[in-house]
Amino acid sequence: MQLHLQRTDINSFAYLDKRKNLLCYADIARKEKKTGVLCRVIVHPEHRRRGVGKAFCRDLLVWAKQYGNYSRIHLNTFGHNKAALACYTALGFKTVSVETKCRRVNGELQDLVVMAANL
Ligand SMILES: CC(C)(COP(=O)(O)OP(=O)(O)OC[C@H]1O[C@@H](n2cnc3c(N)ncnc32)[C@H](O)[C@@H]1OP(=O)(O)O)[C@@H](O)C(=O)NCCC(=O)NCCS
Repeated sequence: MQLHLQRTDINSFAYLDKRKNLLCYADIARKEKKTGVLCRVIVHPEHRRRGVGKAFCRDLLVWAKQYGNYSRIHLNTFGHNKAALACYTALGFKTVSVETKCRRVNGELQDLVVMAANL
């Protein structure tokens, strides 16, 4: 993670609570001049299903448009990740492609879903 945070092509984001505990983390990597990839979105397990993920990702999209100079954001997720799919769909991401059963997760082959949103 320390090495990852030294990358110059990413911007990293987190929400902290009042005691500076980490609530969630994500980063945006620059893929092309105006296209970014939203990566490593994670909400602390104790804070899931309370709207944190959606509010956090919405803030990141605002940052991406206003300060990051992005016009399009991509992301990859798994077809079985219902929470992630619901979160991104609610924010306006649309499925661009699905690579079926291409990644093994916990011994089972899963679909890889590529989503994108224009800002
Ligand atoms: C995916 C994740 C970031 C969502 O964050 P969250 O704070 O729990 O999500 P929210 O409470 O903001 O909910 C967003 C939407 O997802 C839905 N949702 C959340 N958890 C869900 C679940 N387990 N199953 C189905 N839907 C779910 C909510 O109902 C909401 O839908 P709505 O907008 O239609 O009401 C979080 O579950 C997480 O950290 N998962 C582990 C890491 C991960 O998979 N990251 C994504 C990698 S691509």
